[in-house]
Amino acid sequence: MKTIDYTKYPVPRIRHHANPVLYFPLKQHKNRNFSYPPVVEKFEWSELFADGKPPSLLDVGCGMGKFLIETAIHQPETNILGFEIRVNAVEWVNKVINGEKTRNAKVLWYSIVNEFPFIESSSVEKIFYLFPDPWIKKRHHKRRAFTSGLLDEFHRMLLPAGKLYIMTDVPDVDEHHCKVIEENKKFVYEYIKDPDWDVNIKTNQEEFCLSKNIPFTKMICYKFPKPEPGKERQK
Ligand SMILES: C[S@@+](CC[C@H](N)C(=O)[O-])C[C@H]1O[C@@H](n2cnc3c(N)ncnc32)[C@H](O)[C@@H]1O
Repeated sequence: MKTIDYTKYPVPRIRHHANPVLYFPLKQHKNRNFSYPPVVEKFEWSELFADGKPPSLLDVGCGMGKFLIETAIHQPETNILGFEIRVNAVEWVNKVINGEKTRNAKVLWYSIVNEFPFIESSSVEKIFYLFPDPWIKKRHHKRRAFTSGLLDEFHRMLLPAGKLYIMTDVPDVDEHHCKVIEENKKFVYEYIKDPDWDVNIKTNQEEFCLSKNIPFTKMICYKFPKPEPGKERQK
């Protein structure tokens, strides 16, 4: 696979977090006197992807985009759409995508708490929710995007045999994910260990954890009931 020389793309100063108001849905804000990522109803996919088709893979909270860019290069026939709340990160990742002449990847400046009305139901093969912000302090828990409502949206967008991939290095966040999935009841989850993790490309945060020996969990969620073995690819 082609390797990317990331040194060609100087990284600007990017804060760890965006303006706190962006972590809450636009409709909750009465006073909108701030810059908020556009809440989109529909896309012309031909403006995002060379083949004009909708995305099959979603990278939710893609950060600095290593996973998204390298997945797109590895699977040139598959469109991958990323969502990221920090505008500088979005601009930088799209710069790399354009610089590498990758036509099947794009990142949107978007806050995922606004749902995904522009993605058709039962259209997505895989959703990646990899190393979400931990929001460790109790008073920040309300900024966590992983809610039953988000799971409903993931469920709606995924094909019947679609899969939701989750990774986290924060045990409290892992516990939060399990609780929300169990209460939502639309998915079953399984913890996965290598070599059964069928994703070869690593994210920025995954590489960081590996370099520092920080443990993390990997989970795959299937729409309930889980498809029988051998029928996972059925659409
Ligand atoms: C810890 S980083 C992980 C990035 C990447 N997935 C990885 O594994 O390297 C979490 C990312 O989710 C983004 N994020 C957090 N809340 C978001 C939201 N409501 N909408 C979109 N992106 C969000 C953050 O800005 C950050 O880039």
